[in-house]
Amino acid sequence: MMSVKMKKINLKCEFTVYDSQKALPNDVIQLIKAAEEAQKKAYAPYSNFLVGAALRLENGEIISGSNQENAAYPSGLCAERTAIFYASSQFPNQKILQMAVSAGSKTKPTKRPIPPCGACRQALAEYEQKQNTPIELYFKGTEGDIAYSKSVENILPWIFDKNQL
Ligand code: THU
Repeated sequence: MMSVKMKKINLKCEFTVYDSQKALPNDVIQLIKAAEEAQKKAYAPYSNFLVGAALRLENGEIISGSNQENAAYPSGLCAERTAIFYASSQFPNQKILQMAVSAGSKTKPTKRPIPPCGACRQALAEYEQKQNTPIELYFKGTEGDIAYSKSVENILPWIFDKNQL
Protein backbone atom coordinates (compact mmCIF):
# COMPACT_ATOMS: atom_id res chain seq x y z
CA MET A 1 0.00 0.00 0.00
CA MET A 2 1.31 3.48 -0.90
CA SER A 3 1.93 5.62 2.16
CA VAL A 4 0.91 9.26 1.97
CA LYS A 5 2.73 11.78 4.08
CA MET A 6 0.82 14.80 5.24
CA LYS A 7 1.81 17.66 7.45
CA LYS A 8 0.07 20.76 8.69
CA ILE A 9 1.93 24.03 8.77
CA ASN A 10 0.88 26.96 10.91
CA LEU A 11 2.12 30.46 10.23
CA LYS A 12 1.77 33.20 12.80
CA CYS A 13 0.67 36.79 12.25
CA GLU A 14 0.99 38.85 15.38
CA PHE A 15 0.25 42.53 15.80
CA THR A 16 -0.21 45.02 18.58
CA VAL A 17 -3.24 47.26 19.01
CA TYR A 18 -2.94 50.56 20.87
CA ASP A 19 -6.04 52.40 22.03
CA SER A 20 -4.20 55.73 22.05
CA GLN A 21 -1.37 57.41 20.18
CA LYS A 22 0.03 58.49 23.55
CA ALA A 23 1.81 55.16 23.98
CA LEU A 24 3.70 55.63 20.70
CA PRO A 25 7.11 57.26 20.22
CA ASN A 26 7.17 60.85 18.94
CA ASP A 27 8.60 59.94 15.54
CA VAL A 28 5.68 57.55 14.97
CA ILE A 29 3.14 60.19 16.04
CA GLN A 30 4.78 62.53 13.53
CA LEU A 31 4.54 59.88 10.79
CA ILE A 32 0.87 59.26 11.57
CA LYS A 33 0.26 63.03 11.25
CA ALA A 34 1.92 62.95 7.83
CA ALA A 35 -0.38 60.06 6.83
CA GLU A 36 -3.41 62.05 8.02
CA GLU A 37 -2.28 65.06 5.97
CA ALA A 38 -1.82 62.83 2.91
CA GLN A 39 -5.28 61.33 3.50
CA LYS A 40 -6.80 64.80 3.01
CA LYS A 41 -5.26 64.89 -0.48
CA ALA A 42 -6.78 61.57 -1.60
CA TYR A 43 -8.62 61.56 -4.92
CA ALA A 44 -11.42 59.11 -4.22
CA PRO A 45 -14.64 60.39 -5.82
CA TYR A 46 -15.91 56.86 -6.55
CA SER A 47 -15.41 55.04 -3.25
CA ASN A 48 -15.37 58.07 -0.94
CA PHE A 49 -12.80 56.06 1.01
CA LEU A 50 -9.80 58.28 1.69
CA VAL A 51 -6.41 56.77 2.43
CA GLY A 52 -3.08 58.42 3.24
CA ALA A 53 0.26 56.66 3.67
CA ALA A 54 3.54 58.08 4.96
CA LEU A 55 6.95 56.43 4.89
CA ARG A 56 10.04 57.34 6.87
CA LEU A 57 13.32 56.74 5.04
CA GLU A 58 16.67 56.08 6.64
CA ASN A 59 17.86 59.57 5.66
CA GLY A 60 15.00 61.12 7.67
CA GLU A 61 12.91 62.02 4.64
CA ILE A 62 9.15 61.46 4.94
CA ILE A 63 7.39 60.44 1.73
CA SER A 64 3.63 60.38 1.54
CA GLY A 65 0.93 59.34 -0.91
CA SER A 66 -2.82 59.00 -1.13
CA ASN A 67 -5.20 56.80 -3.08
CA GLN A 68 -5.82 57.98 -6.63
CA GLU A 69 -8.96 56.68 -8.29
CA ASN A 70 -10.01 56.62 -11.92
CA ALA A 71 -13.27 56.39 -13.85
CA ALA A 72 -11.84 53.14 -15.22
CA TYR A 73 -11.77 51.73 -11.68
CA PRO A 74 -8.80 49.31 -11.85
CA SER A 75 -6.59 52.08 -13.23
CA GLY A 76 -6.55 53.74 -9.80
CA LEU A 77 -3.93 53.06 -7.15
CA CYS A 78 -3.92 52.62 -3.37
CA ALA A 79 -2.16 55.08 -1.08
CA GLU A 80 0.44 52.57 0.09
CA ARG A 81 1.66 51.78 -3.43
CA THR A 82 1.50 55.43 -4.50
CA ALA A 83 3.80 56.28 -1.58
CA ILE A 84 6.23 53.36 -1.82
CA PHE A 85 6.62 53.56 -5.62
CA TYR A 86 7.36 57.25 -5.30
CA ALA A 87 9.86 56.61 -2.48
CA SER A 88 11.67 53.96 -4.49
CA SER A 89 11.64 56.16 -7.62
CA GLN A 90 13.12 59.15 -5.83
CA PHE A 91 15.35 57.40 -3.27
CA PRO A 92 16.11 53.94 -4.67
CA ASN A 93 18.89 53.26 -2.20
CA GLN A 94 17.28 54.55 0.97
CA LYS A 95 15.89 51.98 3.36
CA ILE A 96 12.30 52.42 4.46
CA LEU A 97 12.04 52.27 8.23
CA GLN A 98 8.34 52.70 8.92
CA MET A 99 5.02 53.25 7.22
CA ALA A 100 1.86 54.78 8.73
CA VAL A 101 -1.55 54.53 7.07
CA SER A 102 -4.62 56.56 7.92
CA ALA A 103 -7.88 55.60 6.22
CA GLY A 104 -11.56 56.29 6.44
CA SER A 105 -14.86 56.67 4.70
CA LYS A 106 -16.27 60.10 3.96
CA THR A 107 -19.77 58.81 4.56
CA LYS A 108 -19.49 56.84 7.81
CA PRO A 109 -17.13 56.64 10.78
CA THR A 110 -14.14 54.34 10.37
CA LYS A 111 -13.23 53.34 13.90
CA ARG A 112 -10.95 50.39 13.17
CA PRO A 113 -7.36 50.29 11.89
CA ILE A 114 -7.39 49.67 8.13
CA PRO A 115 -4.86 47.07 7.00
CA PRO A 116 -3.51 47.17 3.43
CA CYS A 117 -5.03 45.18 0.58
CA GLY A 118 -3.30 42.09 -0.76
CA ALA A 119 -1.77 43.85 -3.77
CA CYS A 120 -0.22 46.49 -1.50
CA ARG A 121 1.14 43.84 0.87
CA GLN A 122 2.80 42.16 -2.11
CA ALA A 123 4.31 45.45 -3.33
CA LEU A 124 5.50 46.45 0.15
CA ALA A 125 7.04 43.00 0.69
CA GLU A 126 9.15 43.40 -2.45
CA TYR A 127 10.89 46.46 -0.99
CA GLU A 128 11.24 44.88 2.44
CA GLN A 129 13.04 41.92 0.87
CA LYS A 130 15.14 44.19 -1.33
CA GLN A 131 16.43 46.21 1.62
CA ASN A 132 16.71 43.13 3.86
CA THR A 133 15.43 44.93 6.95
CA PRO A 134 11.88 45.12 8.27
CA ILE A 135 9.47 47.94 7.51
CA GLU A 136 7.42 48.67 10.63
CA LEU A 137 3.74 49.32 9.94
CA TYR A 138 1.12 51.41 11.74
CA PHE A 139 -2.54 51.48 10.68
CA LYS A 140 -5.45 53.60 11.83
CA GLY A 141 -8.98 54.53 10.85
CA THR A 142 -10.27 58.06 11.24
CA GLU A 143 -10.53 57.40 14.97
CA GLY A 144 -9.95 54.58 17.43
CA ASP A 145 -7.24 51.98 17.75
CA ILE A 146 -3.86 51.95 16.03
CA ALA A 147 -2.45 48.61 14.92
CA TYR A 148 1.28 47.91 14.74
CA SER A 149 3.04 45.16 12.81
CA LYS A 150 6.80 44.68 13.16
CA SER A 151 7.19 43.95 9.44
CA VAL A 152 5.41 43.41 6.12
CA GLU A 153 6.38 39.74 6.17
CA ASN A 154 4.39 39.40 9.39
CA ILE A 155 1.15 40.34 7.60
CA LEU A 156 1.94 38.38 4.43
CA PRO A 157 3.13 34.93 5.38
CA TRP A 158 3.88 32.32 2.67
CA ILE A 159 4.62 34.98 0.10
CA PHE A 160 5.32 34.62 -3.61
CA ASP A 161 8.66 36.31 -4.18
CA LYS A 162 11.70 36.37 -6.47
CA ASN A 163 12.97 33.12 -4.96
CA GLN A 164 10.08 31.30 -6.61
CA LEU A 165 10.90 32.56 -10.12
N1 THU B 1 -7.34 51.68 -0.68
C1 THU B 1 -6.11 52.12 -0.33
O1 THU B 1 -5.65 53.18 -0.76
N2 THU B 1 -5.39 51.34 0.50
C2 THU B 1 -5.82 50.18 1.06
O2 THU B 1 -5.07 49.52 1.75
C3 THU B 1 -7.20 49.73 0.82
C4 THU B 1 -7.94 50.44 -0.25
C5 THU B 1 -8.13 52.53 -1.57
C6 THU B 1 -8.34 51.98 -2.95
C7 THU B 1 -9.61 52.69 -3.35
O3 THU B 1 -9.28 53.97 -3.86
C8 THU B 1 -10.36 52.87 -2.05
O4 THU B 1 -9.41 52.72 -1.01
C9 THU B 1 -11.49 51.88 -1.83
O5 THU B 1 -11.05 50.59 -2.02
